[in-house]
Parts: sequence; C-alpha cells; structure tokens
Amino acid sequence: MLVEVILGAALLALIWLSFKKPSGLPPGAWGLPMVGYFPLNGMSIEEQVERLHKQYGDIFLWRMGTQVVVFVNSFQLSKEVFSSKTFTNRPSWDIFNLGEKVPKGVFASNAHIWHTNRRFTLRQLRDQGMGKSRLVAGIHEQAQKLVRALESQANRSAPVPHALRVAITNVIWHMIAGQTFEMDDKKLQEFEKLTKEFNAAQFWMGFPDFFSWLKYLPKFLLNKFFLLHLNDHLKKNFFVFFDEAIQEHKSSLDPNNPRDLMDAYLLDIEQTKDDPDSIRTQNDLTILLLDLFFAGTETTTNTLMHLFYYLAMNPEVQRKVQAEIDEVLPKGTLPTLDDRPSMPYTDAVIHEILRISSLVPFGIMHSANEDTQLAGYTIPKGTAVTSAFSEIHFDSQHWDQPKKFMPERWLDAEGKFSGKRDGFLPFGIGRRSCIGETLARMELFIFSTAVFQSLSIAPPPGKTIDLSHDKNVPFFHMAKTQDVLFTLRG
Ligand code: HEM
Repeated sequence: MLVEVILGAALLALIWLSFKKPSGLPPGAWGLPMVGYFPLNGMSIEEQVERLHKQYGDIFLWRMGTQVVVFVNSFQLSKEVFSSKTFTNRPSWDIFNLGEKVPKGVFASNAHIWHTNRRFTLRQLRDQGMGKSRLVAGIHEQAQKLVRALESQANRSAPVPHALRVAITNVIWHMIAGQTFEMDDKKLQEFEKLTKEFNAAQFWMGFPDFFSWLKYLPKFLLNKFFLLHLNDHLKKNFFVFFDEAIQEHKSSLDPNNPRDLMDAYLLDIEQTKDDPDSIRTQNDLTILLLDLFFAGTETTTNTLMHLFYYLAMNPEVQRKVQAEIDEVLPKGTLPTLDDRPSMPYTDAVIHEILRISSLVPFGIMHSANEDTQLAGYTIPKGTAVTSAFSEIHFDSQHWDQPKKFMPERWLDAEGKFSGKRDGFLPFGIGRRSCIGETLARMELFIFSTAVFQSLSIAPPPGKTIDLSHDKNVPFFHMAKTQDVLFTLRG
C-alpha cells in the first residue's frame, strides 16, 4: 500500500511539474506539456503576439509546442538583446538549417562559421560597390530595364511585371557571380515559383521544429503533412544552378584578378586548404550563395511592390515625389548617391514604406547561447528570442498616428529628412542586423526614382489596391499580386 501511495504521489508530482512554468522565466503563455500554448481562437500569430504583449508587458514568453519563445517587444529591450553576444545565435531549427547537420553560410550559421562568413560577405559586398558610387551605374542599367518593361505595359491593367524581380536579382547576382539574367529569363521564373511555394509552406514546415516529438514520425508522413520535401526540392534546384556557376568560375579563375564574391571565396578555399580551422568548403559557398540570393531579392522586391501600391493609393504623395524628382534631376537623368540629400521627400516615403510594410514582422529568430539573465528574468540556453518589429513600428510611444501612412513624419520643420529614429528597425538591430541594408537602401532610392520619373501608377479604373499582406505567409509581409495601372508621364 505504502509503495502505491509513494508511486502515486511521485506521479502526481511529475504531472504537476510538467504543467508548471519553471520559476524565473518571463511571464507568458505556457500552455500544456507537448503542445505548449496552442490557442484555437482563429487569430493570426501577429494578433496573438499583440494580445500577449498587452496582457504581459514588453517581455513575455509563448511556449509554442515544446519550444519556448521569448518576445522582447520594445525598442530599447530589442537593442539591448540583439547587441549582446549572448543572443547572437540562431536556433538550431531545420527551417533555418535546410537539413545541414552544422548550419553553414551566414543566415543560419553560428559562432566561427557565422563570424567568418559575415565578415567576408560584408567586405566583398563593399568591394563590389555597396554604398559606393561605382555600383550606381550597374543599378541604373537595371532600373532602366525595369522602366522599359513598365512602359511596355502602360495603360493596361496588369500585375507588376516579373522584370522587377529580375532587375533586383541582377544587382546582387552581378556582385556575387558577375552575371545577369535577361528580363524574361525562364530559370528565374522557375525560381520565383519555387520561392513562393517555399514561403507559403514555411508555417507548416516549422511544425516539427516547434513540436519536436513530431520528428519521430516516418519521413513520408513528415513530407506529406509538413511539406519537408520542399527543403530538398529547393536545395536541388538552386544548388544545381549554383554548382554550374561555381564550375564556370573555377575554370576561368585568375588568382590575381578576382572578379566577384564567388572568385574571392574560391581563392580563400585554395589559400586556406592546409588550415585545419578553415571553414571554407564548396558546400559552405553554395549555402552562402543561397542566403544572399534569397535575402537579396525577396526583401527588396517586396518592399518596392509595397511602395508602388502605397503610391497608387496615395496620389498626393506620388505627385510630391514626382515634383521633387523633376526639380532635382534633369529630365532623363537618374540619381546618384549625391542627390539623396536633395531629395528628402523621396527618402521620407521610402522610410515610411519600410516602417508601415514591416516586411519581416518578427525579425529572424535568435537564440540564447547560454543560460542568462534578461530584464530580471532567467533565460535558459536554447530559448528562442525575438522581437515583433511590426509592433514596434506601430508603437505610439515612437509614432504619432502609427496606422497612418504619413511620410511627413520623417521631415523636420524645415523639410529636412531626419532618418535616425528610435522605434525603427526594419533591417534588425545589433550584431546580426541585415548585411545588405546599405545595398537595399541604394536600390530602393534609385529604382523608385527611376520609375516615378517616367511613369505614374494608379489602381485599375473603378478598383482599389489591397495594401494588406498575404496572410498565407505569416513570417514575411509579402505584397499581394494584383493588377495596377502604369501610365507614361508627359
Ligand atoms: C528592404 C530590404 C531588406 C530588409 C527589410 C531586410 C531585413 C533583414 C532583417 C530584419 C534581417 C534579420 C536581422 C536579425 O537576424 O536580427 C536581415 C538579415 C539578413 N539580410 Fe537583409 N533585408 C533586406 C535586404 C537585404 C539584401 C539586399 C541582402 C543582400 C545582401 C540581405 C542579406 C541579409 C543577410 C545575409 C542576413 C543575415 C545576417 C546574419 O544572420 O548575420 N538583406 N535582413
């Protein structure tokens, strides 16, 4: 009898412990063992996070399945967290690692691999002209091609053409591989389809990372229910293409005259081949190429789509942008980086688009490298940590009438642009912030100026444009594909 009582009590204690949130953690939604907090109230993830923020304050947790995620939803806390070495890692999730045992490249990697690749990539992008005048001519060329494609669909309601994505891809791919694609390139159309499919599947693909016990299911079930086969599909398609480019580079490599990022990497492989600590491998290069190809195209393309849509729906703002372009730039001349200070209104519009579109609503998750303390709470090693950038961008502490599209908020009383603002972090913040920020800013400025110098945009007659993002892609605010009407300016 005594044994039964002891066993019963131990069982009850175990059950109680598995339901109880360990002390010291931030407040939040803990939920049940194995499933965590799994609300069935029909709200989107963003709406849930907003609700939990209101309920628990600026730092709170949400146990999603078996994974504890801590949200730091204030600008100051985000700055503190993402500037700290302790929160530099990415979580070791398959959605990031793409099935690699040790994550490679720059986006998902950690520690030595991440540090080496981040330094290398930043140096190479700068060597290829990021933030410098010598890249401007290359961006002009792509912007002109885009304008021609838009002109050819003038006066006809149609979606923003594929040429936008091609032009943006060409800027980054030229820096990486010294090559560009034709505006109607079939390979890129295939990649776009694949990327869309992959983005839409991300929600389901993340399930086995969050509900780790699902990983014990047979592979065919994981593929069927959580679409994990898309990882292999994506890798296979992109890697074949990258491997061809790498082979071409190898066969024409001149050690004294590296042409692009890929050449520089191949030379590094050669120079460090006897160094046991070297991380340089062809596999790492391939993943780095995938990171840059993805991060460098989806983001800027979608930001420009949001910009087109907002200006179509705000003709007064569009007219002011065009008036500024006409005043500063002689007809038919595209801007250089030196023109930016003279175009404060255009700069203000771009910043307002980055704020209001909040393209990456939860940033990209980080994780705690070790047990640590944050804002008086205990954060165990491996806890995922992130911040709802989309909420900070709408925080009335930082923004007057946050829901309103108001480029003027970026201008001072004399009409001068004032860009540095608390509460603004579309490119992330701290040690892992976006590598391509300067490149993206160059592209956004030159492409939008080129387009509105030659064309105007409006909704199709009798219609409006849906400014909301595609709800099928919860971790990325993708602009919806829909018809717009471009017209030539006189
Ligand atoms: C409007 C355009 C862009 C936006 C809004 C954007 C936003 C972001 C954000 C929010 C992060 C995550 C920061 C973090 O983890 O804390 C990020 C990371 C990153 N971005 Fe961008 N990005 C843009 C353009 C680009 C471009 C053009 C490139 C190409 C060079 C690029 C390459 C990357 C890479 C490689 C990372 C990972 C950095 C790391 O893990 O160390 N991004 N970006």
